[in-house]
Amino acid sequence: MVSASAPGKVILFGEHAVVYGEPSLVAGIDKRVYVDAEKKGDRISIASDVGSSSFSLDEIGLPAQDELRYVKKAVELVFKRVDKRTGLEINITSEVPSASGLGSSASVSVATILAVSKLFDADLTLKEIAELGHRVELEVQGAASPTDSSVATFGGVLFIQPTEKKVDSIEADLSLIIGYTGVERSTKVLVERVKSLRDRYPGIVDPIIQDIGRLTREARTRLERGDDVGDLMNVNHGLLEALGVSTEQLSRAVHAARDAGARGAKLTGAGGGGCMIALAPNHQVEVTRAIEASGCSAIRASLSRAGVRIE
Ligand code: PMV
Repeated sequence: MVSASAPGKVILFGEHAVVYGEPSLVAGIDKRVYVDAEKKGDRISIASDVGSSSFSLDEIGLPAQDELRYVKKAVELVFKRVDKRTGLEINITSEVPSASGLGSSASVSVATILAVSKLFDADLTLKEIAELGHRVELEVQGAASPTDSSVATFGGVLFIQPTEKKVDSIEADLSLIIGYTGVERSTKVLVERVKSLRDRYPGIVDPIIQDIGRLTREARTRLERGDDVGDLMNVNHGLLEALGVSTEQLSRAVHAARDAGARGAKLTGAGGGGCMIALAPNHQVEVTRAIEASGCSAIRASLSRAGVRIE
C-alpha cells in the first residue's frame, strides 16, 4: 500500500481573475487530504467521508458527476501516463472540508496522482504531478487555473502566473484566521457566473479583472518586503463583490472581522459560500469571536511549506 497526502490552501489574492490570465497568490495550510492506495482485484473501489464508489476498469473514463469525480479522473490520467491499469482500493480521509474553497479537490487529485503512480513505480516529478493535477481540474470543471493544483503539489506561498506558466515561491509569514460559512458551493458554477457577467459587460468586467491582477502584483511586492497587505485584501474583497461572487454571510463575516481589529479580510476561493480569511496579526481572540458571532465557524490553520508527499 502507498499513502500520500497533500495540503489544502487559501487564496490570498487573485481568485477568478486568474482564470483570465492574471496572477494569483496562494498559500498551503496545515490541513491535509490523505490518500491510501493499493493494487487489489479487477475493480476500482474508492471510500471517503463524502461517499464511496466501485466500478470496473472498463468504466474508467466515463463521465462522472459525483463527489469522487476528481479521484476517478486522477486515476484515469495516471493509468494513461504509465500506460498500465489494475484494480485498486483507495481510501481517502480529509482534514479539509469539501467544496469549501480550501482546495480539497486539488489536494485529493494531487495526492491520488502521487499514490497511484508510486504503485506502478513511476517517479513523476513535482512539475508533472502539478500538470496532471491541473488537467484533472480542467477536465472535471471545464475552466480552471493552475492555482490549486500548484499549491497542493508544492505547498508554501506561491505567486502563479498562468499565461507564462510560471510559479514563484515567496517568503511570507501571515497570521490568518479562516471563517467557514458551512455553505458548500461549486467552483464550476461560480466561474461560469463570472464568465456570463463578462460576456454581457466586457467593458466593465475586464477592468475589474485587470485591477485584481494589479493589486495581486502589488501584494507580492509588499509581502516580499514584509509590508502589510490588509488594505489590498479589503480592495480585493470589494472587487470580488463587484463580480457577484460574495454572499451576505461572507461579507458580514468580512466586516465583522475588520470591525474587531483585523488588518484586512476577504472571501477566499470561488465564493458563493465556502470561506473567508482575516489578516489578524493582533486582536486574534476578538477577530475569531467576531467571525463566529457573524455565523461562521473559525478554522485555526497555519501556513505550511509541506507540499504533496508520501506518508
Ligand atoms: O475552488 P476554489 O474555491 O478554491 O476556487 C478556485 C479559484 C478560482 O479562481 C475561482 C478558480 C480557479 O480555477 O482558479
